[in-house]
Amino acid sequence: MQVTPWKVELESFSDKTYSKLAKQFGVKLIDEELLERIKKHTKDLHFMLTRRVFFAHRDLDWVIAKYEQKEKFFLYTGRAPSGPVHLGHLMPWLLTKWLQDKFDVELWFQFPDEEKFLFKKELTLKDTEKWTYENMLDVVALGFKKGKTHFLIDTKHAGIMYKHAVRVSKRITFSTAKAVFGFTHETNIGAIFYTAMQAVPAFLPSVLKGKNIPCLIPLGLDQDPHFRVARDVLPKLGYYKPAIMHCKFLPALTGQSKMSASNAVTAIYTTDSPEEVERKIMKHAFSGGQPTVEEHRKKGGNPDIDVSFQWLYMMFEPDNKKISEIYHAYKTGAMLTSELKHYLIDKVNAFLKKHQKAREKARKIVHKYILEVD
Ligand code: TRP
Repeated sequence: MQVTPWKVELESFSDKTYSKLAKQFGVKLIDEELLERIKKHTKDLHFMLTRRVFFAHRDLDWVIAKYEQKEKFFLYTGRAPSGPVHLGHLMPWLLTKWLQDKFDVELWFQFPDEEKFLFKKELTLKDTEKWTYENMLDVVALGFKKGKTHFLIDTKHAGIMYKHAVRVSKRITFSTAKAVFGFTHETNIGAIFYTAMQAVPAFLPSVLKGKNIPCLIPLGLDQDPHFRVARDVLPKLGYYKPAIMHCKFLPALTGQSKMSASNAVTAIYTTDSPEEVERKIMKHAFSGGQPTVEEHRKKGGNPDIDVSFQWLYMMFEPDNKKISEIYHAYKTGAMLTSELKHYLIDKVNAFLKKHQKAREKARKIVHKYILEVD
């Protein structure tokens, strides 16, 4: 298996796979005890926590302990603009939004508009500029708090970020970068430096406030390597190690890999029409059902490998009672694949209808989220 910021290859989407990865990465699984501790402050728990869509962490217990000592944390996450936002991108952001609301904390959201420019041959800075704007609309549409949410755009905010990126970069050798990210002698030097820029928002608020503030980073597991490095470096500069919460990957429609923005067939974008959503799911969603209706009624389907079910479980059906009813109905053959798919289509389209409306409204307010610099 390979999980790096540039490549994700999983043998499956099962719990066993993710436990293996947690071990490989040296991260802790989120357990009941930790969830109970969070619940003391949040009153309820988001289904992405109880269902372990967010399944692992580094120092989350420490962040909560600090919070209990009246030392509030800030949230940090990001998106490298390279194309349209798809449903898989939204998953960690939805929990980030919940965390912001429940703990009433600041969110720093990075748009490293140089990242994919450096890593993808075909992308120009003009492209990434366009995608930065488009992607910001999706983030604003999720309803993050105005005034408490700060967008950092690397090329725009270089003036306040670069100095601190340089401090980080001095503490990372090429041999570390090579080992962690798999760089070679053909890698351009911008790409090698990039991780220093991604480290900056993890301590920039501390720099600006002139005191150390704990940082919590919800992210997809593939982004962990950046912060493995940052966690080594930041204490050497006098800052806290950032804490991390790891989200699983939303499988692509075809089920073979994580959803990828560059595959229009197996990804659903936030801007897709209801018809496109229906067509993509009906045609491509990998099914755990039987080849014929008779066989399906007799033997039942397998929700554990069925992508439609996985999407409902991870993202689109928060109701625990309903999700377990669907699980059993599908497994016993009472529910057919086409019924399951239609159930999902309705859920996705209801979500997107709301999202697309909010996304249009975001055009008017997006500038208020971008960090002001003087
Ligand atoms: N590198 C991430 C991407 O490819 C973007 C990013 C920047 C990010 N900072 C982050 C992701 C912090 C998670 C947490 O999209």
